Amino acid sequence: MKNIHILGISGSLRADSTNTIILKTLGSLLPSDITFEIFEGLDEIQHFDPGHVDSDSVARFKSAIRKADAVVICTPEYAFGVPGTLKNALDWTVGTGDLNDKPVSVISASPLNSGGSHALASLLLTLTALGTRKNEASALSIPNVKSKLSAGEVSNQELIALLQAQCDNLLSLTRQ
Ligand SMILES: Cc1cc2nc3c(=O)[nH]c(=O)nc-3n(C[C@H](O)[C@H](O)[C@H](O)COP(=O)(O)O)c2cc1C
Repeated sequence: MKNIHILGISGSLRADSTNTIILKTLGSLLPSDITFEIFEGLDEIQHFDPGHVDSDSVARFKSAIRKADAVVICTPEYAFGVPGTLKNALDWTVGTGDLNDKPVSVISASPLNSGGSHALASLLLTLTALGTRKNEASALSIPNVKSKLSAGEVSNQELIALLQAQCDNLLSLTRQ
């Protein structure tokens, strides 16, 4: 049987993004026979226009999703919503159904107590519209994220256990 390949998408473009750190940690918790890559280039995807054919950057994004057996998204919340770059990229997949039946893990991380819960709820709604495969355990909101990281890594053991649970649930959804 072919090895499982997982794609990570960070909703943050910042070089030292806390969400990207979370994503990298999650990737390191996966079993060694599972391949994991983080998509680079969300900022190169042009504004969604259903009347336009896919540019190279859009085609690369869709191809990375199609190639993956499962997808993990970890995102910040901006102004109580999903970052525009992430929502824009996801909008390109509506017409071609690239995320249809794709197992997902959906995470929001925030320095605030709220854990980015508005963005998480909104993103889950979008991923429902896109037909992704998920269950009640597929979402995780991480409050006070900065207190759980040190030296560019997750240092909080409780959070590591929660990320491990996301990996386990995602793999179980993928093997269904
Ligand atoms: C313009 C702006 C708006 C923000 N709005 C929110 C918000 O609504 N909710 C929230 O939890 N954090 C908000 N934040 C804080 C982000 O969660 C914080 O900058 C976070 O570290 C960004 O994620 P990153 O570290 O992965 O880049 C906002 C930050 C900026 C710059």
